[in-house]
Amino acid sequence: MCGIVGYAGTESAGPIVYSGLENLDYRGYDSAGIALVDRELTVTKRSGEVSELSVPDRPNATCGIGHTRWSTHGPPTDANAHPHTSQNESVAVVHNGIIENYESLKGQLLKEGHEFSSDTDTEVIPHLLEREIEDGHDLLSALERVVDLLDGSYAIAAVRAGSDEIVATRHESPLVVGHGDEGAFLASDVTAFLDHTRDITYLEDGDIVTLEAGTVNVYHDGEIVDREIETVEWDADAAEKGGYEHYMRKEIHEQPTALRQTLSGRIDLERGDADLDIDFPQGYLESLEEIQLVACGTSYYASQYAAQLLEETVDVRATVEIASEYEFDGGRDPWRTLVIAVTQSGETADTLRAVRHAAEAGARTLAVTNTLGSTVTRETDDTAFIRAGPEISVAATKTFASQIATLALLTVAIGRERGTLSSADARDILENLRELPGAVQQVLDEEDAVVEAAREYRDSDAFFFVGRRFGYPVALEGALKLKEISYDHAEGFASGELKHGPLALVSKKTPVLAVLTAGADSNETMNNLTEAQTRGAPAIGAVSNGASVSSLDCALTVPIVGVFEPLIANVYFQLFAYHVANMKGRSIDKPRNLAKSVTVE
Ligand code: M6R
Repeated sequence: MCGIVGYAGTESAGPIVYSGLENLDYRGYDSAGIALVDRELTVTKRSGEVSELSVPDRPNATCGIGHTRWSTHGPPTDANAHPHTSQNESVAVVHNGIIENYESLKGQLLKEGHEFSSDTDTEVIPHLLEREIEDGHDLLSALERVVDLLDGSYAIAAVRAGSDEIVATRHESPLVVGHGDEGAFLASDVTAFLDHTRDITYLEDGDIVTLEAGTVNVYHDGEIVDREIETVEWDADAAEKGGYEHYMRKEIHEQPTALRQTLSGRIDLERGDADLDIDFPQGYLESLEEIQLVACGTSYYASQYAAQLLEETVDVRATVEIASEYEFDGGRDPWRTLVIAVTQSGETADTLRAVRHAAEAGARTLAVTNTLGSTVTRETDDTAFIRAGPEISVAATKTFASQIATLALLTVAIGRERGTLSSADARDILENLRELPGAVQQVLDEEDAVVEAAREYRDSDAFFFVGRRFGYPVALEGALKLKEISYDHAEGFASGELKHGPLALVSKKTPVLAVLTAGADSNETMNNLTEAQTRGAPAIGAVSNGASVSSLDCALTVPIVGVFEPLIANVYFQLFAYHVANMKGRSIDKPRNLAKSVTVE
């Protein structure tokens, strides 16, 4: 989820592209760059924020592209910043997303004598374009040919020395064109160019667009197509949120894209394996006795989900520790204990303390984080990035889903290496993972039903969330989300525990929200829910397709994705928390007393 900007028009392109990048910088990217074209191609790029970047000194250049990067392949260095150029530096490319097959493409290009200067997947694209151009193609037909070679999700923009034209395309990554008096604009997010125009065209997957001063042409399957021009009415603040009122809702809706990025290039269905690019020492995983996950808040609940998966599917002892309570028990063999720090920010003081403690005791440590270059990545032996993209809202949403998906991939990799997970069982998990983005989208499409439920129950005295197995951490997470942003009393329970005390709190003013899906022992939970319901509590269930729902006061349908169904149920709980809080006019993105990153113990 990086940012792309492009301009082709009558004005000097440098300042326009730069201000577009500044407009995208609100999400805190880690590197930036600009390419301007006139007779020549001039590129400046560097690690750091846009404010640290200088515009190339080409005042007469009226065409250019720019990029802000949120690193996924390779650290945020100057060399890895975009734009990337071709072998003879005549083509420059900016790219969002992931090219899954870049290693094989790079291998082929290396054999042909191409040299590379970055660790990125992106760099293969300008090299491939140059190869097509040398074969006599113009930039448009070169890009048409190159996209046929690419697997993955991407938005790509390219320029070429000696031409005033930008050529761009998208596949599962947003790209929008702006039509202004002074030229044509391109961006991954309209925020980039709202100062110049509000007349925009959203491109569709597979579209290829050419932008020159005064001319925009959109091609699809080789034919010019008409795409609607819409007028954006949002103000700049709303535009930063993609038209949503709050980052939280935007980020909830970003989950399908975030999950695609998390999974991209990491699943090998044929072998029934997953690859997170972690090099554990030879024999290390086979000899492991225990995996300890340390985390706080939402990351802790994601860890609980993962621990359940590790124990149930690959037969390894997995424990979860609240990071602030963590001590490395001297009775454990440090060599046989892997300590995984799960943290979105990578800066949570409690989690860092725990990981330092484990490292001092001699245990191997692994970070599972969203944030490249964060402290946790520098202090652990290995890192797996969850690739969810920047999360601004204090309430964690998309990162919870991407943490679980990343840890599920790790589970498969560990099980395969230890020989405790068959390729067929691994394939089942991987196929379910691949279904996740679509399943989340189906839930997001049901948002109106959640708005209804929020309207009906928002004035309740308290809210209880219940679930079993994988549903239990989701119940805890559902309650955390609601209390965090609505300030209402919300509690999560293992559903079997309701009858051991909490049932005393239940009344007709305390709705119970339950996870009634696969992986959550839904029959037993249904019995517990009925116990609450017969005492007057409204029963709201997130229910897998086909389950009996007639007795529920509100049933929300969860698509079938095996042990990940509770994770999908959580999307309903996120939306419920959001809409209850929104109806109460709460400060959703910045709830009182809370911070996004908690850097004190
Ligand atoms: O950055 P981390 O994942 O380490 O943060 C841990 C918690 O502070 C965080 O998950 C917190 O609970 C969220 N605000 C919950 O929405």
